[in-house]
Amino acid sequence: MSLGPCEIFEVGPRDGLQNEAREIPVREKIALVDLLSGAGFGRIECASFVSPKWVPQMAGSGEVMAGISRREGVRYAALTPNMRGYEDALAAGVDEVAIFASASEGFSRKNINASVAESIERFAPILEDARHRDIPVRGYISCVVECPYDGPVAPGAVAALADRLFSMGCYEISLGDTIGAGRPDSIARMLLAVRDVVPVGRLAGHYHDTHGRAMANIDTSLSLGLRVFDAAVGGLGGCPYAPGSAGNVATEAVNAHLLALGYKTGVDQTIVEEAAAMAQAMRGAVDA
Ligand code: HMG
Ligand code: MG
Repeated sequence: MSLGPCEIFEVGPRDGLQNEAREIPVREKIALVDLLSGAGFGRIECASFVSPKWVPQMAGSGEVMAGISRREGVRYAALTPNMRGYEDALAAGVDEVAIFASASEGFSRKNINASVAESIERFAPILEDARHRDIPVRGYISCVVECPYDGPVAPGAVAALADRLFSMGCYEISLGDTIGAGRPDSIARMLLAVRDVVPVGRLAGHYHDTHGRAMANIDTSLSLGLRVFDAAVGGLGGCPYAPGSAGNVATEAVNAHLLALGYKTGVDQTIVEEAAAMAQAMRGAVDA
């Protein structure tokens, strides 16, 4: 029995690779995106136009965008922390951008060197310009359950920020359990609060698998109506400014799980497993 569509937003080439110790050559990143392009994803996050002093792993994002073979029907996305990054992303030809805020002050400061309020001020001109150009803007919220610096985060704080980003024009709010601290009960409390202010069809779960609970958190999210989940092939990733954030939930595991439950993802498991092996090998070159 089919339970209907469920989308996996592939973030491996960005969230997966931004935390790797090895300097991954642009051609390898391009090869990964190209392989993923044929897997059936509608959206792939493949770049990040941030300061290379802050995240050296994402330097070369313009070259990645220029080098990939675009496939019709796939939207290629990138992170943009400020107007400078947004302009660079547009010049590189991205199809959509993502701004990223935090529900906690501590992470906001460490990650983007701004308070939450200051970050909103930085994002406002991006959303304004994107509206005129018809560029979709996704809004990330980090630390939706717990912050590595401030501790537990109140569901109300996440809901207030989600409401703000959605009213500013973000078409979807991706809820980041940045350090994988969430459990089904805390994820449910957070989602119930957010669902009150943003339609559930505009929410995505972005769960790191630090403690092996991401899949249980996805199940809870499914039961509360979410149908979009971010994942990274090979389970790579993390945020350099979130100690212990290692490991996005693995795309190949999420896809197998959703298909087994009866959802339609449109994602080819064989290609995803091939991409996972490629992603692991990219990391393995230094870990081995
Ligand atoms: P800052 O140091 O406060 O900014 O950084 P600044 O304006 O003083 O600029 C510092 C230098 O960076 C200057 O260069 C700027 O030109 C340059 P200098 O004059 O020193 O040579 N610069 C830039 N260069 C390239 N692209 C840009 C850019 N902007 C300034 N866009 C800033 C502020 C936001 C730039 C910095 O903090 C930054 O880049 N942070 C990014 C951190 C990051 O990427 N973290 C990982 C992504 S978030 C994440 O992973 C979480 C998520 O997955 C969800 C979840 O799991 O929770 C999304
Ligand atoms: Mg993340």
